[in-house]
Amino acid sequence: MSTVRNREPRSDNTIKIADDLVVGRVGYGAMQLTGPQVWGEYPDRDGAIALLRHVADAGVTLIDTADVYGPHSNELLIHDALHPYPNDLVIATKGGFVRGGFDYSTLDAIGNRNYLRQSAHMSARRLGVETIDLYYLHSGRAIDAPFEDQIATLAELRDQGVIRHIGLSNVSVEQFEAARAIVDIAAATAQYNLSSRLGGPLLAAAEAAGAMFCPYHPAAIDGDNAAVIRAAVAPIAELHQATIQQIALAWHLHRSSVSVPIPGTTSAGHFDENLAAARIDLSLEEVQSITELIAEA
Ligand SMILES: NC(=O)c1ccc[n+]([C@@H]2O[C@H](COP(=O)([O-])OP(=O)(O)OC[C@H]3O[C@@H](n4cnc5c(N)ncnc54)[C@H](OP(=O)(O)O)[C@@H]3O)[C@@H](O)[C@H]2O)c1
Repeated sequence: MSTVRNREPRSDNTIKIADDLVVGRVGYGAMQLTGPQVWGEYPDRDGAIALLRHVADAGVTLIDTADVYGPHSNELLIHDALHPYPNDLVIATKGGFVRGGFDYSTLDAIGNRNYLRQSAHMSARRLGVETIDLYYLHSGRAIDAPFEDQIATLAELRDQGVIRHIGLSNVSVEQFEAARAIVDIAAATAQYNLSSRLGGPLLAAAEAAGAMFCPYHPAAIDGDNAAVIRAAVAPIAELHQATIQQIALAWHLHRSSVSVPIPGTTSAGHFDENLAAARIDLSLEEVQSITELIAEA
């Protein structure tokens, strides 16, 4: 990416994506900067641009988006707010999902070669980059092409310089390993948080493979156990003079050295709190007690 905006040197709390990209341990998920139900434009365009610039100026080096957020408007917004990009900013985007309209249930997956090829080329065009640093297959769900063929398409796009690194989103461990037999996989992402460990097996597989793992909805606490989890984490938060959300984020960083949570927010204040979570030192006992609040998937 072109280097124009300079920033202060980053803290050493970083990890590597493959061997050539370095990112800080807390990223930013941009999905909320869309309309209701992740459809259309975010209503406050100036506010969204100011927030994205605040995120970049604060030193975040990983922003997560997807062509289906909007669709397209989220990538275009990131471009309009931040292009030309800081040289150390990794923008991860995804292809393979489509929306049939405002109704979220129209979300569907497509994986055939021409579709994925067009998607990657158009994401690069919307983001204004020659090469997309990290490109995820958005799911392992598409059935219009064999999964292995979808991975082969991404490998071809990588060989052609359209994408630099390949990531996998919402895939099974079997799919993750099948993909790794075809091409290097640099990252994986799945839902994983205090109350939902759906992504646990994928986290373990990513860790074993040395791939970055981006837990999404990283600080969400939902479901039947929410009240119990909040009650258990509250005293830890109080001890660290932090919020429960911050402890949830700090837990990810302690849980795995390959984890880079990508919390989403529309608020600069919340963003600052989320970034500050990287400085919280939890004890081994605290980490273990939070991990054991519910069973891993
Ligand atoms: N791969 C996939 O299939 C997939 C699926 C879903 C999401 N994702 C990615 O993961 C990212 C995160 O998910 P998400 O956007 O749904 O966000 P999220 O991290 O699950 O949380 C968003 C919610 O948390 C609130 N929040 C954020 N920081 C807070 C804080 N410090 N204190 C209190 N509340 C706070 C936000 O409200 P405010 O706006 O008021 O702060 C918002 O209501 C997405 O942006 C997207 O990039 C990927």
